[in-house]
Amino acid sequence: MLKLVDFSYQTSVVSESAFHEHLKLYNGYVNKVNDICHGLENADKSKACHNYSQYRGLKKELSFCLNGVMFHEMYFRNMGDGSNKPGEHFLRAVGDFDKWKEDFIATAKSARGWALCCFEQRTCKVVNVLQDSYSDDLVVSAYPLLLIDMYEHSYFTDYKSDREAYIECFMDAVNWQCVEERAKSLEV
Ligand SMILES: [Fe+2]
Repeated sequence: MLKLVDFSYQTSVVSESAFHEHLKLYNGYVNKVNDICHGLENADKSKACHNYSQYRGLKKELSFCLNGVMFHEMYFRNMGDGSNKPGEHFLRAVGDFDKWKEDFIATAKSARGWALCCFEQRTCKVVNVLQDSYSDDLVVSAYPLLLIDMYEHSYFTDYKSDREAYIECFMDAVNWQCVEERAKSLEV
């Protein structure tokens, strides 16, 4: 059974009420993962079929909702208050920080769902990627170091349709300590 992580409000990017509304969506993903796992235990495996089957539907939604949980947990952790700076492992991995930042911002602007700065383990390089949904565009060997939620629910309460202002505020308040710990754990 997947347990909910209890996140407290400690960011300057969004208002406290917007943050708590966002947590409700995250809670929903955790609950759905547990519902799906329960459904899989009781589903008839002998009827599994790639065209249409209950098992296929549950497996498809498991990927979607599990990513919904993981992305949000990583995002809430890497959204800070501007009190720290990028660490040495991360800076070494990206090389030219300004060039990386320009690309990450452009990736976020281009995303309908999420923008991710990942460490890609085949090339051992950092790459910024976007995902329009939790189950599309996933690069299997790319481990996320920094994530920004670009779905409207993440910014509309505080920034209305000004996506650029949200991205700018997010970049000014990244929890770099969290990003550095992720980079360090990968021996970047
Ligand atoms: Fe979200």
